[in-house]
Amino acid sequence: MSFSFFKPRTVTPDLSFIGVDMHSHLLPGIDDGLQTPEQTVAFVKELHTLGYKKLICTPHILSGIHDNTPETIGNALAIARKALAEAEVPVVLEAAAEYMIDDAFERRINAKEKLLTIGDNYLLIEMSYIAPPFNLNEVLFQLQVQGYKLILAHPERYNFYHNNFKQLETFRDRGVLFQMNIVSLSGYYGKEVKKVCEKLIANNMVEFLGTDMHHQNHLNALKSISSTKEFYNTVKNIPLMNLSLL
Ligand SMILES: [Fe+2]
Repeated sequence: MSFSFFKPRTVTPDLSFIGVDMHSHLLPGIDDGLQTPEQTVAFVKELHTLGYKKLICTPHILSGIHDNTPETIGNALAIARKALAEAEVPVVLEAAAEYMIDDAFERRINAKEKLLTIGDNYLLIEMSYIAPPFNLNEVLFQLQVQGYKLILAHPERYNFYHNNFKQLETFRDRGVLFQMNIVSLSGYYGKEVKKVCEKLIANNMVEFLGTDMHHQNHLNALKSISSTKEFYNTVKNIPLMNLSLL
C-alpha cells in the first residue's frame, strides 16, 4: 500500500514561463512596499532565481496616501537601478504605476494627463476593496477613449464581486484585461479569493499573473506556491501575456 498521496508534491520553482512581472511594489520608499534599496536588491535577486527576467514595478498612486508622480517614481527607479547595477543583478527593472480609481485619478483623466503605462500602452488600475467607484463605467470609457488598454489588478480580491461574478464578466465585455495575483491561488487572501481565482481561470478570464510583491510574507508565499506541482497544473492552460512585455 502506497502513501504517496500524502507526500507534498514539491518541485523546483520555475516561473520563467511568466518571465515578466508587471505588478509589484519593489521600488524603495515610495509606497507600502519595500523601503530601502538593499531590500530591493535582495528581493530582485530572489525573483531572478525564481525565473523572472524583467520586473515592471507599479507603485501605488493613491490620493492622500501614496501621492506618487512620474517624478517620485522615476527617482526611485533610478535609485533601484543603481543599486542593482552595483550588485550585478541581471534583471531588467522598469516602472509604471498602479492607479487607484479615486477622485484625483478622475481629475487626471479629465485633464488628459499622460499616465504611466506598461509595455504597449497598458494601464494598471485598481479599486477600493470596500466598494466599487460609483462612476466606474464612465472612468473605464474615458480611459479607453484616450487609447489606454486597461488591466484590472487582482479582480479576485474585490469581495463585493464574490457573489456577483456577473459584474466581473461585465469588465470583460468592456475589453478590460485581468491580472491575477499568484499568491491568491495559494489561499493567502482566503478561501473565497482562491475560489474566485479558480473560476476566473476556468472561464478563461486571466491574461496576466502578477506578484503584487510588497514584503517578506508575499515573497515567502510566492516561493511556497511556486514549489508545488499543483500550481503549475492550475495555471498551465492560461494564455498568459506576460512574456509579450519582455
Ligand atoms: Fe499592488
